[in-house]
Amino acid sequence: MMTVTQEIGELGPWFHNLHLPDGTETCKDHRLGDFPNVKWAKLAPHLPLDLKGATVLDVGCNAGFYSFELAKRGAQVTAIDSSEHYLRQARWAAHTLGLEDRVEFRQQQIYELGAVNRRWDIVLFLGVLYHLRYPLLGLDIVSRCVGKTLVVQSLVAHGEPALVPPPDLELADRAPLLRPGWPRLSFIERRFAGDPSNWWVPNEACLAAMVRSAGLRVLSTPLEEFLLCAPDPDGETSMWRWNQEEFWAAVGPRAAGP
Ligand SMILES: C[S@@+](CC[C@H](N)C(=O)[O-])C[C@H]1O[C@@H](n2cnc3c(N)ncnc32)[C@H](O)[C@@H]1O
Repeated sequence: MMTVTQEIGELGPWFHNLHLPDGTETCKDHRLGDFPNVKWAKLAPHLPLDLKGATVLDVGCNAGFYSFELAKRGAQVTAIDSSEHYLRQARWAAHTLGLEDRVEFRQQQIYELGAVNRRWDIVLFLGVLYHLRYPLLGLDIVSRCVGKTLVVQSLVAHGEPALVPPPDLELADRAPLLRPGWPRLSFIERRFAGDPSNWWVPNEACLAAMVRSAGLRVLSTPLEEFLLCAPDPDGETSMWRWNQEEFWAAVGPRAAGP
């Protein structure tokens, strides 16, 4: 029989450093420190302590760190990831932590949620946006899944404070687009941090603007790169007010029922 340490080795490499009941950790030497515990320590106070009866969707759950934290607070969690490698870790960890009946892991592409007609009270969309070839489509799909709260996190390019863009620009007036602080999404054709799946790096203004245009209101920034948001489908720039047909053409026929 394998020891826990041997099983961890067998399931590696890990991105989440999970702390297991026997004191072992899955990725003790993480280059980002005790990740994502260091992020969770700052985010945790911004989410309800008691989540009994609440539902959570964790998009891009990886080995399940955030799913497990919300499940420990009583939530029923649906967790999806496109990677079978990470889902093997997540299922093993759920068993080891005794949380199997609280978290359901599914291998799914984010885009498959477009065919799902269901909302979850809390949706976590952490560390995924910039990995998508179609980031705004991903965000629009996620926004339709949000019942009360969305937590979104993205890699961002830090820089000048966000500009408040004017309501319109003349066709010939392109200089403002190049001003520091204009919402900007930088495309990475080759690699970023050695990872060819890092396609986009928004600046802070762009991340917030994308969120608003996906029909959400930004409530707060609990920590750097994280936004706490709530549904706002009638918001001034929400695409749900004026551009739903393009969304439905991209995701396929409207799904019926939950
Ligand atoms: C940087 S990790 C973030 C993990 C976790 N959410 C966190 O914040 O610690 C990105 C995760 O998203 C998953 N992912 C990337 N593209 C995806 C897609 N198109 N659909 C679903 N999951 C995806 C990856 O497999 C990976 O587990």
